[in-house]
Amino acid sequence: MHISAELRQLFARAKRVVVLTGAGVSAESGVPTFRGGGNTAVWKGMPFDVISSAEMVERDLPAVWEWFDYRRNFLQELTPNPAHYEIARWQERFAELTLVTQNIDGLHQKAGSLEVIELHGNIWRARCTACRTTYSMVQEKRPDACFECGDSLRPDVVLFGEMLPPGAFEFAAVRASQSELCFVVGTSALVYPAAGLPEIAKAAGAYVVEVNPERTPLSSLCDEVLTGKAGEVLPLF
Ligand code: APR
Repeated sequence: MHISAELRQLFARAKRVVVLTGAGVSAESGVPTFRGGGNTAVWKGMPFDVISSAEMVERDLPAVWEWFDYRRNFLQELTPNPAHYEIARWQERFAELTLVTQNIDGLHQKAGSLEVIELHGNIWRARCTACRTTYSMVQEKRPDACFECGDSLRPDVVLFGEMLPPGAFEFAAVRASQSELCFVVGTSALVYPAAGLPEIAKAAGAYVVEVNPERTPLSSLCDEVLTGKAGEVLPLF
């Protein structure tokens, strides 16, 4: 894997760095991606973007919980891979590292990343459908109903057809517009507004690097494309 001298020099002196990750950064941990490799995930005959939708929460919340309980149990056994650990190390390396993830698996935090901007929420949290109180499910079983207002709980995950958590993208966009170096790791760059972050960084003059075994719609915009698996490429820095 060739990493240009220009990127190595920038990596050595950069202060403000943004990292955007997608499902691909967790692939080597055993987390199935949604796309990539030509297939899309299906649950009980329903495409994932149907079962993971706001409309399904209205129509059949128990079915939504069944899908997320299955995924959470599946994730329970999984551990971070070298890509997660390398990114966690970068928070010490750079004066200002902004880690933005589309992943809900919590593996960045498990690898030691502290401030993770979770654009799509987190599968280890439940949220009240009325008062938005959240409940951790890392150690605890989720309550049957909200202790605050008694209303029902739903996964604290951004579902299709829903807005991102208030302020999360806006904060990430500001950091992207101030960044010198932006890494885009393991995302098909098809889902907006997340996929717009590297575009904001590029427009502001940042050097944009993609890490992915496959080309994406973002590849042509990048200053450098490192074709390979995140767990093999990132430790090379
Ligand atoms: N290292 C790096 N990239 C990888 C690896 C790997 N080991 N394995 C696969 N990839 C790449 C694939 O080539 C693909 O481009 O990761 C990407 C995964 O793409 P998606 O499955 O579309 O995941 P993501 O981009 O995160 O999806 C965005 O869509 O489904 C919604 O909310 C969900 O957050 C998700 C969003």
